[in-house]
Amino acid sequence: MTAAALDLPAPSGARSALRRLGRYIARHPVYYGVWLVALLLYVAGFVALPLLVASAIGAVLDGLPEAEVARRVLWLAGVTLLTAAVRYYSRTLVFNAARQIEYELRNDIYSHLQRLPQSFYFRWRTGDLMSRCVNDINSVRLLMGVGLMNMVQTPVLYVAVIVAMLALNPRLTLWVLIPYPLFILIARLLGRSIHHWSLLSMEGLANASNMLQETISGIAVVKAYAMERVTAARFEDVNQELYRRELGLVRANAAMPAVTSILPAFAMCIILWIGGEDIMAGRMRSEDFFAFAMYVFQLTFPTFLMGWVVALVQRGAASMQRIDELLSVVPSIADRPDAEPVSAIRGEIELRGLSFAFGGESGREAALRSIDLHVPAGSTLGVVGSVGSGKSTLASLIPRLFEVEDGQLFVDGVDVNRIPLRTLRRHIAMVPQESFLFSATLAENIAFGRPDALRSEIEQAARRAQLVQDVEDLPDGLDTIVGERGVMLSGGQRQRTALARALMLDPAILILDDTLSAVDAETETAIQRELDRVFAGRTVVIVSSRVSAVRGADQIVVLGEGRIVERGTHAQLLAMGGLYARLAREQAEQAVYEAGVGGGGGAA
Ligand SMILES: Nc1ncnc2c1ncn2[C@@H]1O[C@H](COP(=O)(O)OP(=O)(O)O)[C@@H](O)[C@H]1O
Ligand SMILES: [Mg+2]
Repeated sequence: MTAAALDLPAPSGARSALRRLGRYIARHPVYYGVWLVALLLYVAGFVALPLLVASAIGAVLDGLPEAEVARRVLWLAGVTLLTAAVRYYSRTLVFNAARQIEYELRNDIYSHLQRLPQSFYFRWRTGDLMSRCVNDINSVRLLMGVGLMNMVQTPVLYVAVIVAMLALNPRLTLWVLIPYPLFILIARLLGRSIHHWSLLSMEGLANASNMLQETISGIAVVKAYAMERVTAARFEDVNQELYRRELGLVRANAAMPAVTSILPAFAMCIILWIGGEDIMAGRMRSEDFFAFAMYVFQLTFPTFLMGWVVALVQRGAASMQRIDELLSVVPSIADRPDAEPVSAIRGEIELRGLSFAFGGESGREAALRSIDLHVPAGSTLGVVGSVGSGKSTLASLIPRLFEVEDGQLFVDGVDVNRIPLRTLRRHIAMVPQESFLFSATLAENIAFGRPDALRSEIEQAARRAQLVQDVEDLPDGLDTIVGERGVMLSGGQRQRTALARALMLDPAILILDDTLSAVDAETETAIQRELDRVFAGRTVVIVSSRVSAVRGADQIVVLGEGRIVERGTHAQLLAMGGLYARLAREQAEQAVYEAGVGGGGGAA
């Protein structure tokens, strides 16, 4: 299997990254076409201005009539204004295009992230992903804006100015150009060092964000174990390393303008020295001397900028490479070309010798081993087993959250790998063990899978999930904001909200993965009564570590280390006197004990 197929960061080359960026540029031919025209006009103005200044000065020096002087000055003023306007326009164009590409890139990354399967999120760290989505996109925008503008404009500017200078005074031009090869060499060396340090700092930043994110998510654990000092010290190390790398970047960045600013001063010395001689000897007109001096000064800014631009382009290229890496991850779970359009799902599930290991065939121990199981449409399957026996894995394979091999898992007799994902997931609702509430109202959380749902449908789902009492207790009822930035719900309330969310989908197959573990026994019974009614004629898979949750199921399987160790109905399994019977006995005793404790301790 290739790295991409395993959702690993595929080593992406600079070429692939640039090709991808090229495709974004190609989407905006008008922007870039008009920009190139504006850029050429700007360069023309840039070259013309010193010549116009020289001609105005020449008119004064030669004692031409006042009207002629005024005419040349007016020309100068006009061209100056036009150049400024064109410059403004061309900058706006290229910066707008950069924003546009940034916008498209961000959208593309977001929808790509949504397409990637869960296994991807086990392998990539959140902080790393965040950093690619924020910092790297930012660097690419700078690359496409200031970077691209100067990379294209400055060389054209240089060529045009050198041609103009050569026309004025070839000898002086050659002298002025002498220090440039040296300068280019220095700029390259510095650029390389900036590239090196900026890669290191971005990596350091990703490490720091990652640690920050982990600490915030795990703050309850950090506090419970009084580990604040230790985590702070660990963070300090990461932060210290980031600081060291950023200082390296600062040093490299600071050297650039220092070196580049020496250059025009150097050129000016040469102009004064050689040019002065030429004027004395009558080989050069005084006004051309002004034009020369202006060219050198006008080139100062773009030259100065070039050092920074090289660094920016290199950083942007590195960022584009990191983005390309992310976008090149091929979703390992996607519709096959031979997907069969299925309009509806009845709900029959069949497992034929199903085996499954996390992380593909790369040696990890199998989480499920040769499971054979047939769940007729409309029946209820109970799955019990101890922690780590593979219950959740089994549950998540049915909606294809992980990839199974062909020929092992069938829904309605069709291999799940050949059912379009949308169809599969629309008709199968799985309530995971840990369900997430978004920072939104309770109603919005319940209607997550069906944003267009009617209020009455939401209320019905809440009622079926036994949430009515809780809703009444919330400050704004169904419109209370819950989740991270709202009212914290209890474990049981969250589970019932997740159940209501699944019920909204009106699925053909409902899978409850230990969904009611935090719900008290009485409420659980009420929910089950309700589900029996709602789901009469549909397929329900109830995964639980509690025997009480599955006792009414049409068939029950007991998992142990990824294998089915017992199967039958509740009565059959009890009669068998095996693992299930033992679990049932233990749990019944515990229930009696808890009831005693809960009832005021009288029974104990
Ligand atoms: N995302 C995962 N990546 C790797 N291994 C996993 C993952 N989820 C579960 N496992 C492993 O698979 C086995 C079965 O886990 P699971 O299905 O969650 O058990 P259960 O739900 O019965 O407690 C365990 O050994 C567990 O460590
Ligand atoms: Mg589980």
